[in-house]
Amino acid sequence: MTAKSMDELVSLCKRRGFIFQSSEIYGGLQGTYDYGPIGVELKNNIKASWWDSMIYKRDDVEGLDASILTNPKVLKYSGHESTFTDPLVDCKECKGRFRNDHINDSKCPLCGSKSLTDPRPFNLMFKTQIGPVDDGKNFAYLRPETAQQIFANFKNILDSTNKHLPFGVAQIGKAFRNEITPRNFIFRIREFEQMELEFFVKPGEDEKWHKYWLENRLAWWEEQGVSKDSLEIYDVPEEDLSHYSKSTLDIMYRFPHGIEELEGIANRTDFDLGSHSKNQNTLKIQSKTLQNKESNSKLAIQDIESKEWFVPYVIEPSAGVDRAFLAILNEAYAVEDLGDGKTRTVLRLKNHLSPIKAAVIPLKKNDAQLVDLAVEVKSLLQERLKGRVVLENTGNIGKSYRRHDEIGTPRCITIDYDSIEKSTVTIRDRDTMEQKVVGIDGINEHLFN
Ligand code: GAP
Repeated sequence: MTAKSMDELVSLCKRRGFIFQSSEIYGGLQGTYDYGPIGVELKNNIKASWWDSMIYKRDDVEGLDASILTNPKVLKYSGHESTFTDPLVDCKECKGRFRNDHINDSKCPLCGSKSLTDPRPFNLMFKTQIGPVDDGKNFAYLRPETAQQIFANFKNILDSTNKHLPFGVAQIGKAFRNEITPRNFIFRIREFEQMELEFFVKPGEDEKWHKYWLENRLAWWEEQGVSKDSLEIYDVPEEDLSHYSKSTLDIMYRFPHGIEELEGIANRTDFDLGSHSKNQNTLKIQSKTLQNKESNSKLAIQDIESKEWFVPYVIEPSAGVDRAFLAILNEAYAVEDLGDGKTRTVLRLKNHLSPIKAAVIPLKKNDAQLVDLAVEVKSLLQERLKGRVVLENTGNIGKSYRRHDEIGTPRCITIDYDSIEKSTVTIRDRDTMEQKVVGIDGINEHLFN
């Protein structure tokens, strides 16, 4: 089961501390959101799961955490300065601004007027001044994708890690785009996070690896609880491909507002390494790149046998963390009928993604003996469990269960008078709501079985 509307998810996120509107106390800042105490845990768990699958479970991928502020030359040669634009249309009546592809029937989406300007390109990159002198010359861009700094570090990584083709470099981090119309909650925002892998392969082996990464990523989404039925593959038509792409396969998800892109898997050919390379004319670069006389590095590999230099091709699976969050939340969301006109909202998250791994709840909040034992049990679990364990000292078991169902806590552990007398606790399962009495010594065994 999924949410019936985006509003249900927005309301849950605010109520339970997943996501808040950013700068809310001053009326907000459009296209920005803050992840609250529960949201930051889920977001970190999604990123950890991606990192685990990309780096720890493989031997052919290295990690990187590069700077957000980017030298404009990187984004000049990447093509972003000249081509990273959306066509923008102004309404002459109400002065609203819209992306051209958001206009229907040539009418302003706000006031309905047909008095619209012709579309003109609008660059989506944010600029910021560097240093104290604001002369318009000393500026940097906030990176619009994490990918470019991976390409710019290609030689550093190669020289420091001894890697051979095929190999990849993975990075998770913020990216910024001055979206004309941020919308649909955290789906399209101006400050977001990406999880990107640039996987370098020999030219000619690119199509094989493109298929491989599509299958690999689909399997990962399923492990995060996103069912295959909610996903579609979209083979981006040639006329819609980004300037760097030979072929892109988008993984589309049924978001509450419609089927839209969750992750893109692009064959970026030798465009990026070729663009950022010096001595381009010695490298037989196959894609069309800007002539580069400013780079001080040859981003290429020497074939051991032929001794010829060549520029590797790149396959890039690129997923948005915020869109992953939204899809995973939506997939886990269920409203269950409990009979007698009662319902409960429950998040059936996979255990590795649950923001809280276990909640320890003393039966009464003012009973020192119960609370002390609960603190002890909490510490015991926290030492052993990977992730956050909370002490829920509200004195209201029913309310605590409801809260933890809604934030997806797999197990609640109640400390009662038997806990003091017989060293037992009651463990309640989120999905079945079944309760089991177990000895304190054996709690761990019961937690994730
Ligand atoms: N390096 C390739 C690249 O950036 P993209 O399709 O523009 O490709 C990759 O972005 C992913 O980043 C998207 O599939 C989406 O999940 C996420 N993304 C892009 N723009 C976003 C935005 N404005 N808000 C939230 N996520 C966004």
